[in-house]
Amino acid sequence: MKIVFASGNRGKLREAGEIFAGFEIVPISAFSAWHAPDENGSTFLQNAVIKAEAAAAAAEGEIVLADDSGLVVPALNGAPGIFSARFSPEGTDAANIRKLLGELSKIGDRNAYFLCTAVLIFPDRTVIAAEGRCYGKIIETERGNNGFGYDPVFVPDGYEKTLAELSEEEKNAISHRGMAFRKIMSRLQDF
Ligand code: IMP
Repeated sequence: MKIVFASGNRGKLREAGEIFAGFEIVPISAFSAWHAPDENGSTFLQNAVIKAEAAAAAAEGEIVLADDSGLVVPALNGAPGIFSARFSPEGTDAANIRKLLGELSKIGDRNAYFLCTAVLIFPDRTVIAAEGRCYGKIIETERGNNGFGYDPVFVPDGYEKTLAELSEEEKNAISHRGMAFRKIMSRLQDF
């Protein structure tokens, strides 16, 4: 059976492929009617549903998967949150990290978590949603070259290494996205 994934991110596609074993994961870019929607929701769930519905419209009759994720820092009132990708004006990983470290330099509490909301929509419009979180701390200087986004400054609870120093496999085992996908997969098996 096929699952169309509303993302072109190769890492996410690989992760989905591993977790949804037995399913064929097809990127939404394979459907010419696909146009990336404006992610103008005010929660991760709303943005994941916006992506999933846009993908379902472009890939009629298919099961569609979408996710939305970001970094939440409680001491910054939840920022960058749903604005994680465009936290800095430049919107690059380097500039986003620079802004984050700047804002945290005056704050003692460096606790943070990644959150992912994943949504699966069936052709009859039945929706399954699941959330995953990965808790940890923001360190003061970047370490590691793997992963993406805020990985070089995030040390998961119980680890010494940043997410960017872990292998893809190690990260997927504890990541917010891995957790949300695995929850969706276990509920999918009930259908
Ligand atoms: P997306 O909407 O799920 O693609 O993610 C939005 C943004 O959140 C990304 O551009 C990253 O800045 C951040 N983010 C989400 N997941 C991760 C992760 O696993 N590691 C580091 N940053 C992440």
